[in-house]
Amino acid sequence: MSTLVVVGSQWGDEGKGKITDYLAQEADVVVRSQGGNNAGHTINFDGEKFALRSIPSGIFNPKIKNVMANGMVINPKQALEELAGLEARGIKDYQLFISNRAHIVLPYHEMLDGAFEQFKGDKKIGTTKRGIGPANADKANRIGIRMCDLIDPEIFKSVLKSSLTIKNMELKMLGLSELKFDDIYNEYVEYGKKLKKYVCDTSLLLEEEIEKGSKILFEGAQGVMLCLDHGTYPYVTSSSPTGASVPLNAGIAPRYIDNVLGICKAYTTRVGEGPFPTEIHDELADYIRERGHEYGTVTKRPRRVGYLDCVALNYARRVSGINYLSLMLFDVLSGIKKLKICYAYELDGKVINTMPATLEDLYRVKPLYVEMDGWDEDITHVTSFDELPENAKKYLRKIEELTKSEVVIFSVGPDRKQTIRLKDFF
Ligand code: IMP
Repeated sequence: MSTLVVVGSQWGDEGKGKITDYLAQEADVVVRSQGGNNAGHTINFDGEKFALRSIPSGIFNPKIKNVMANGMVINPKQALEELAGLEARGIKDYQLFISNRAHIVLPYHEMLDGAFEQFKGDKKIGTTKRGIGPANADKANRIGIRMCDLIDPEIFKSVLKSSLTIKNMELKMLGLSELKFDDIYNEYVEYGKKLKKYVCDTSLLLEEEIEKGSKILFEGAQGVMLCLDHGTYPYVTSSSPTGASVPLNAGIAPRYIDNVLGICKAYTTRVGEGPFPTEIHDELADYIRERGHEYGTVTKRPRRVGYLDCVALNYARRVSGINYLSLMLFDVLSGIKKLKICYAYELDGKVINTMPATLEDLYRVKPLYVEMDGWDEDITHVTSFDELPENAKKYLRKIEELTKSEVVIFSVGPDRKQTIRLKDFF
């Protein structure tokens, strides 16, 4: 048995989809354990580009079991559309298993997500408006609806009735139109019928796979800095995208987690609002944004761009149990004369090496940088560490030094083939 958790170690969009897809070639099982269709995982192979939202990245390989585990919040309509989209492009032969305990996202969650954002005004989170926060809130409030409810028309009727009574009160309070029970029930009960064949106890399935000695890949969504507990609260998502959350969110024992691979870009980006200490505000940000195609997969928003922040990375390593790093979009940095890496922050005249808890402090920290010479060479055809320009080698080694983590993969382009592995770890 071998297990690997892939986590985003920054603010999401680090290229987890690409690495999961690459490693999935060796896996027997690929698991999504939290988040929902707020994620957007882009995968390129054989000249084709696929953007996955809630379906695990192993879906392209018929031999792989794909699990949507209990910690996810799943939008049934969107999941079926995503599957239909894949099928329309020839991806028909797949294995998919959806946890009977996963919560579902309903239309009122999306409405409430939008309304909360609007009411927050300039304090808005910048959510993806996919209803993820309200669905997770209902779960915690014990008025959520799960897959096991959706696929049983009688149970669904009863739980939807009681949840909708409360949700309609909320909608009314916020000045939104109330929803009719029959409209939601009649539409969603059909989705339940279609999804039923995939729904099972995925925790049990995973235990059986572990006992068989399978290779299991846990595909993280979002990133550690967006963690509800450890991220830049309140500018975070509503679940925990850390390695530590995987056992809970997938229903397996913590002792079964072997390694945690942190995916990080060679620089930093974030979408939405919130503090971003190493953000770049000049034309260098545009250069990186254009070369790195830094626009949201889900919302198409231009991403904010910054220098690599090793304080944030080190923090992510600690709270998420990261022991290896995969350095993504390394090729994007070619052509930049001087590169900077943030190694510490200065706050009130003191040098600090960790993320402060309050937004106020995070907005005030001054990043301290090591400056390094860049390289001009195009590195998109590089196939080994030795082929990298000297300054690129130094940049990579510096990251290892500052994050106390070994870089085991670096990526020099979007294709599967442009992935260079420096060590066997799965
Ligand atoms: P929510 O998850 O839609 O509630 O959004 C909360 C915050 O997480 C916002 O800043 C989003 O932009 C961010 N976010 C959610 N999912 C992703 C993702 O997959 N990549 C990057 N940012 C994300």
